[in-house]
Amino acid sequence: MTPRPSSAKDRNSTGGRFITLEGGEGAGKSTQARRLAHRLVKLGFECVTTREPGGSPKAEELREILLSGAVRPLGPAAEALLFAAARIDHLDATIRPALARGAFVICDRFADSTRAYQGALGNLDPRWIRALEEVSIGATRPDLTLILDLPVETGLARATARRGANAADRFEGEDIEFHRGLRRTFLDISAAEPERCAVIDAAAGERQTAAAIWSLVAGRFSLPRRAKPAGIASYIEPQRGRAAGVKA
Ligand SMILES: Nc1ncnc2c1ncn2[C@@H]1O[C@H](COP(=O)(O)OP(=O)(O)OP(=O)(O)O)[C@@H](O)[C@H]1O
Ligand SMILES: [Mg+2]
Repeated sequence: MTPRPSSAKDRNSTGGRFITLEGGEGAGKSTQARRLAHRLVKLGFECVTTREPGGSPKAEELREILLSGAVRPLGPAAEALLFAAARIDHLDATIRPALARGAFVICDRFADSTRAYQGALGNLDPRWIRALEEVSIGATRPDLTLILDLPVETGLARATARRGANAADRFEGEDIEFHRGLRRTFLDISAAEPERCAVIDAAAGERQTAAAIWSLVAGRFSLPRRAKPAGIASYIEPQRGRAAGVKA
């Protein structure tokens, strides 16, 4: 059986744990999602790394449309609805099945990005955003949200360097005040929900940021801090449970 985190709290009513990474452009979300997944897998946990918008075949099609900017002229409410449509499929096709198996799900952006980009920055009524979350997400809320925080200029410089000659997407192309507003909004979300959210200093180097994230995740879910040097196998009982149709 795949090892399971021992935290007693189980908001998803499944064996899995749902971790989301949020923050501005170039904060290092994708980089840190990969690093965290790698670490969990080394400890023998099943781990599904996914992203928004997207994360399932149908939602990836909607990602193309959303990031192309084609929906922008319809306004933030319409954009939020399309994000929600993608999220519904992502939850059904990818996230819930993985959580039901007892896996860790690490999601690069999730509902807080909608709260920030379309909600706060699009001047949508927070009650409307909450209602949309209720119908699109229901009870499948993140157990932990890591807010990667850094000065806007640093994040945009990283994103620009990564992009090279490619054009900025729909959101990268917004002006600096928009990105400052985003940063403030993510910090506000964290302050409003301190049990779910943790702010990570993402201006530090990649390894240092990864270490801060690991320390937090390991503490939150009572995980062993390191893989046993010669003992990873003791954490893994490969595939037996699942092959036999038993829930991991
Ligand atoms: N701590 C760090 N220090 C310096 N560079 C970093 C750090 N973390 C990531 N990078 C680099 O910055 C760039 C952006 O990182 P990454 O793609 O992980 O950010 P992101 O938050 O996923 O961005 P986006 O919102 O645009 O998807 C990448 O080229 C990555 O290698
Ligand atoms: Mg990314």
